[in-house]
Amino acid sequence: IEGCGKPTQVERLAKRLAKEGHETLTLREPGGTPIGEAIRDVVKFPPGHNPISPDTELLLMNASRAQLIQQAIRPALTNGAVVLCDRFYDSSLAYQGHGRGLDLVKVQKAIDLAIDGTKPNLTLLLDIPLSVSQARVSDRHQSTGEGQDQFDQAGDAFFERVHAGFHVLAKGEPERYRVIDGTQSPEAVAEVVWDCVEPLL
Ligand code: TMP
Repeated sequence: IEGCGKPTQVERLAKRLAKEGHETLTLREPGGTPIGEAIRDVVKFPPGHNPISPDTELLLMNASRAQLIQQAIRPALTNGAVVLCDRFYDSSLAYQGHGRGLDLVKVQKAIDLAIDGTKPNLTLLLDIPLSVSQARVSDRHQSTGEGQDQFDQAGDAFFERVHAGFHVLAKGEPERYRVIDGTQSPEAVAEVVWDCVEPLL
């Protein structure tokens, strides 16, 4: 969830992989391509403050994902690179499925259309309680002056469902998921992240 330290950890991991001689591509979702970044702006800050329907949100997230997979992820994998992605399709299941309440089968269908079989080897869930998430997000807004996006305004009950949803996903696929305590220092989290990633290299 928001404020768990994903960008920091992705950056640290990318640096460590590069130091160890691995070609690495770092991406984020929604975004990661010019088309995806334009979609990111629309889903985070819907034009004219129009409420975005949950179905539209689901399709836009997966449109960004389809573009990312075709334009960036598959070519990088073909070239033997390690691909690190800040969020992936689990966020659609957690946010649009568990959070917005869309049927999980429908969400999975949209994901399947976007990914067409491209799946991660490993998914790291940086776990923080909701109270820590809220405090970190509010600090970030104060220090950067960054405005709230439409997810930041979704309310506690929404984020409780998203948080619980991620845990359901992690329990359902223990071989793909590792759950990491994201309340530790960034250095300590980075060490656990490395311990999870290294055996796969
Ligand atoms: P973030 O990358 O700064 O966390 O912002 C992305 C926002 O988009 C975040 O609130 C989670 C949300 N999101 C979804 O709702 N569904 C998705 O599939 C993805 C990738 C992100």
